Amino acid sequence: NSFIPYFLEPQQEDNISIDMIKLYQELLPKKESHDRRIKFVKLMDRLMNTEWPDHDIKAHVFGSSVNDLGTSSSDVDLCITTPWNGLRNVKTLAKLFRKSGMQHVVCVPRAKVPIVRLFDPELQLSCDINVNNTLALQNTKMIKAYVALDPRVRPLIMIIKHWTKQRLLNDAANGGTLSSYTWTCMIINFLQQRQPPVLPVLHHIENENKGEDYFFDNVEKLKGFGAANQESLGGLLFAFFRRFAVEFDYHTQVVSVRQGRYLLKTEKGWDTGRNKMSLCVEEPFNVSRNLGNSADIASVQGLRCEFQRFLEMLIAGEDLETICAPYRAM
Ligand code: GTP
Ligand code: MG
Repeated sequence: NSFIPYFLEPQQEDNISIDMIKLYQELLPKKESHDRRIKFVKLMDRLMNTEWPDHDIKAHVFGSSVNDLGTSSSDVDLCITTPWNGLRNVKTLAKLFRKSGMQHVVCVPRAKVPIVRLFDPELQLSCDINVNNTLALQNTKMIKAYVALDPRVRPLIMIIKHWTKQRLLNDAANGGTLSSYTWTCMIINFLQQRQPPVLPVLHHIENENKGEDYFFDNVEKLKGFGAANQESLGGLLFAFFRRFAVEFDYHTQVVSVRQGRYLLKTEKGWDTGRNKMSLCVEEPFNVSRNLGNSADIASVQGLRCEFQRFLEMLIAGEDLETICAPYRAM
């Protein structure tokens, strides 16, 4: 791997930064997409509270519709909260949505978190719905806070997410790869580890025995944190791919946003079983969970090839549109 340089020429780095800004502008969601989402959530809220009044049912949006990392084509992630037990079985929800005109209504009752998935033909939106999984609301707030801390975070993550979708590396449920959330944690942790850091470790700030779901969320107080780091978008993109193509030790290291560094698989007891060969990414609020375990050995090999491919094409001066061309099986 010695042929991969540590840095790009300044001129090439600038070209990549300009290319990134252009792609970022195209990926940003339109106001129209925002308005459709708001309509959709109101509709869902009304459907449920008309069918089951008096159960204090609320629909909360989480994920990329609210963490500033979504595009116009992102799905809507909904968390239904209610003290009532009647919605524990997601099939009950599915029945209501089917008779309300939603399409492709599918239950995934045995997933880590049981969900109903559907498509609203009128508003042209796909949606994943869970009941009472409030952890996802908390980790969405954390992502949103990290995104707000430095202006480089949003374009960097949106561009890498775009690449993961184009190259079919973003389907934890069916494709055996990684979720957007897992990718986002990898990028945040990478930015925490730059010298000097672009992002702080929100779990460590003012945390005196504050409990598992704590993180520092006063973004205003941390504005300008990353200013000492002068790396450009292009430089950061190159460094991220260099990190996961050649530097990261997949056999021993664990990505930890909670700690802002790499942990060792041995210290987490993740050096056996499925985790041994996985790309290990610690869930920041539930540290016994490996977000990377959706990818099997073959997928991790495939991922590493894709990191290499990206890096080589970037070094060769290809533009992002070419590098992010949709994956086609040979
Ligand atoms: P896109 O839909 O691809 O634009 O991105 P997204 O940010 O919405 O990600 P995704 O749909 O994969 O997940 C939505 C939200 O669900 C995330 O923001 C997390 O809050 C949560 N989530 C997703 N996957 C996991 C997981 O494996 N573990 C936990 N704890 N939460 C998850
Ligand atoms: Mg989503």
